[in-house]
This record gives sequence, C-alpha cells and structure tokens, in this order.
Amino acid sequence: MDTIGVFTSGGDAPGMNACLRAVVRTALGAGLGVVGIRRGYAGMLCGEFEEMSRASVSNIIQLGGTIIKTARSEEFRRAEQRAQAASLVKEAGIEGLIAIGGDGTFRGAQRLWEEHSIPIIGVPATIDNDIYGTDETIGYDTAVNTALDAIDNIRDTATSHERLFFVEVMGRDAGFIALSVGAAGGAEMILVPEHGLSVRDMHDTILAGIGQGKTSSIIVVAEGDEEGGALEIAHKVRELGGVECRATILGHTQRGGRPTARDRILASELGAAAVRALLDGERGKMVGRVNAEIRLTPLPDSWGKKKPFDQRLYELALALAA
Ligand code: F6P
Repeated sequence: MDTIGVFTSGGDAPGMNACLRAVVRTALGAGLGVVGIRRGYAGMLCGEFEEMSRASVSNIIQLGGTIIKTARSEEFRRAEQRAQAASLVKEAGIEGLIAIGGDGTFRGAQRLWEEHSIPIIGVPATIDNDIYGTDETIGYDTAVNTALDAIDNIRDTATSHERLFFVEVMGRDAGFIALSVGAAGGAEMILVPEHGLSVRDMHDTILAGIGQGKTSSIIVVAEGDEEGGALEIAHKVRELGGVECRATILGHTQRGGRPTARDRILASELGAAAVRALLDGERGKMVGRVNAEIRLTPLPDSWGKKKPFDQRLYELALALAA
C-alpha cells in the first residue's frame, strides 16, 4: 500500500481534527502518501481530493469541527453512486481508506469494503457515544463538558428563581450524554430512552420533592426520550399543574468547541491505530479503546451490537439527587 485516503463524515465532533492530524502524520511517518477527501462521502462522489502534508495538519489539534469538512450524504445510499465514488477513489491511486465518523459513516464504509473491496478502517467520532466496541467515542467528553457548563449556569437561575428547568441534550436515540451530564451536574432526574419514565410519575416525584422542601430542580432530558423533548415535556407538566417550569434545548452548542484533553488524546491514539491496522492488513473494522487498550471490532458490530447503558451510574445519580 502506497497511498491512503482519509475523510470525516456525519455530524462533526470535537477531536476530529486531532484524529486527522494523527492519521496524516502516522501515515507519512510510515512512508505512505495521504489524500484528504473533503466533505465526507459527498466529496468522495465528486472527487474532492487533496494531498495532505505534515504542514496541512499543523495547528489543528485544538480546533473543533473538521478542517476537511463533513456532510451527511443521501446520494451515497444508492449503489450506483457508491460505484462512482469507488472508481474515483481507485483512479486517484488511493489503496486504503480511513473513515472518521459515527454509525452512518461506518455503514457506508462497510459497503465500500464489501462491494468494491476497498480496504477501510473506521475511527469512532460522534458526540453521541452510541458506538459498540469503544468505551468512548471522539467528541463525547467535550460535548458532555460543554453541556455541563450550560447546566451549571442554568442551576444559578433555577436556584435564584426557585424554578424547575428541563434541559434537553443531544444523543440521538441514546442517553449517554444525558446520563453523564445529569450525574456530573447533580440533576434531580434524568430522562433517557433506556428508562421509560412517564410524565405523570415524574410530576408526582417533582411534587413530592417540593413537599419535602425542594425549591428548584434540573431535569436532564435526552433528545430521544420517548415522552418527547424538553419543550413537550414542560408543556405536559404545566398542564398537570402545581409547578412552574422552563425548558432549554442545548442543541448544536454541544457539537462544536475546543476538544478536551481527553478527546485530543483519544483521537490521537485511535488515528494512529487506524493507520497501523490498515498496514497490518486489517479490513472492514473499527478501532476503539476498551479498558485503556486498542481493540478492533468488525464494522457491522459497531452499530449492530448495543453498547451497555451504565445502570449503576444512573441509579447512583438518582439516589444522590433524592
Ligand atoms: O449524531 C450527532 C448528532 O448531533 C445527534 O446528537 C443529533 O441527533 C444529530 O446529530 C443532529 O444532526 P444534524 O446536525 O444533522 O441536525
């Protein structure tokens, strides 16, 4: 293998740049050429390729977002479009790919490997942390800390005005961000898709808390919760009566920003490991870190197997908030 390509795809995640830097510099150090593919699969489809040097990844380790851009490509779901992308990749002399992203990125990567025999390794980067085969995904720690800052701020207002706040965090269908933020922020309740809690039961608990002298509360809501988002839940609680509440949606504020040290280190380790995996002949796998060790997982397992929810932490957070 002489030349590899690298791209970022799906939702941006803090640490993607640190990962790109690690991929480029590890590959160059091993004597490979490196091509950056801009805008993920969307750019692959129209041959948006650029040669990368050590200098092209200088001074990016601290930057959020991704300097080679990202996109969610609907077109890439079609087999003809994937065939076109694969020929462009091969024509550019790219013999292996490193895909940095989440489950949608990995589904596309698996197709490129299965249908067009392009050697490919995935690196998990998504704030959602919903990928099996790694304890944490790149970007998750930063997103949790960003949301935590916001919750600490909201706590001041909740306390001063003696109010209940519902704060909605991202995470798609998973409650990992909500659990970490709720536990670290001392939330009174944490609403996650992994634990169905009805609005009526929650309302009873809130009133019981008020009865015991609680004057303010923060309830963290995962965007995928089955009772709805923070606005909808706040509306239902108002209708049940007896408590004044507000709702805040943190939304895309959680996706950007300077990556934490933890994310930069994880991104550097996984980026370097991905290049080594390709050179060792691994294909169609994802690199992850489990119990401080680098592990390889078949790409289909990364989205097909369920990452366990930390029940122990969930119960501890609720017990401490009571
Ligand atoms: O996967 C990351 C994520 O931020 C999810 O938490 C969220 O549901 C989704 O992406 C939002 O996607 P978009 O930025 O395309 O609206």
